[in-house]
Amino acid sequence: MSDNKKRLAVFCSGTGSNFRALFDAIIERELPAEIVMCLSNRSQCGAMEFAREYDIEALHLSESQFGALDDFARAMLNALRERRIDMILLAGYLRKIPDEVIAAYPEKIVNIHPSLLPEFGGHGMYGMRVHEAVIASGETRSGATVHFVNEEYDKGRIIMQHHVPVVTGDTAETLAERVLRCEHRLYPAALEKLLAEHP
Ligand code: GAR
Repeated sequence: MSDNKKRLAVFCSGTGSNFRALFDAIIERELPAEIVMCLSNRSQCGAMEFAREYDIEALHLSESQFGALDDFARAMLNALRERRIDMILLAGYLRKIPDEVIAAYPEKIVNIHPSLLPEFGGHGMYGMRVHEAVIASGETRSGATVHFVNEEYDKGRIIMQHHVPVVTGDTAETLAERVLRCEHRLYPAALEKLLAEHP
């Protein structure tokens, strides 16, 4: 039975609330998947603490541990291969995935972004910066996007999007909270869709 489960790696850099939402959904919906490891560029962060608490391997891997970027990419690839990872879910991972890793996992790396891509995406657009830009633009709606990762920031094929309104008086902070709640529904729904399409 467990042989049919997709082996997932979740990559995080921060709080890890999307990681938790994915973890909970896999259990509650009995999805055919298992989170095998949490990989982070930070040894101490909410996501890594959550992983340790729930006996999920917490692997700290950062460019700063390596003399050359190639070595970092090789270490990441080895870590994924050793654990027979089928799919990588980026959940607030704020580093670029090396091209070698992207090439080795075509349409197997998925990201969540806190805007309606292609709007408010690209290099340097992450976290609160996205919400600040949305507020400054005067848009009346925002949302979140789950998409495949390719070599260009936030440009891979879109898997699923959910919208939220931007309301009068919103600040980047209030919008961020609304979008994050939307992300916690969207990411599990997108994972469920992917698992159903690629059993
Ligand atoms: C989320 O809002 C996610 O969409 C964003 O970081 C936050 C992580 O929160 N990711 C990006 O901006 C990627 N470009 P979390 O650690 O609580 O899941």
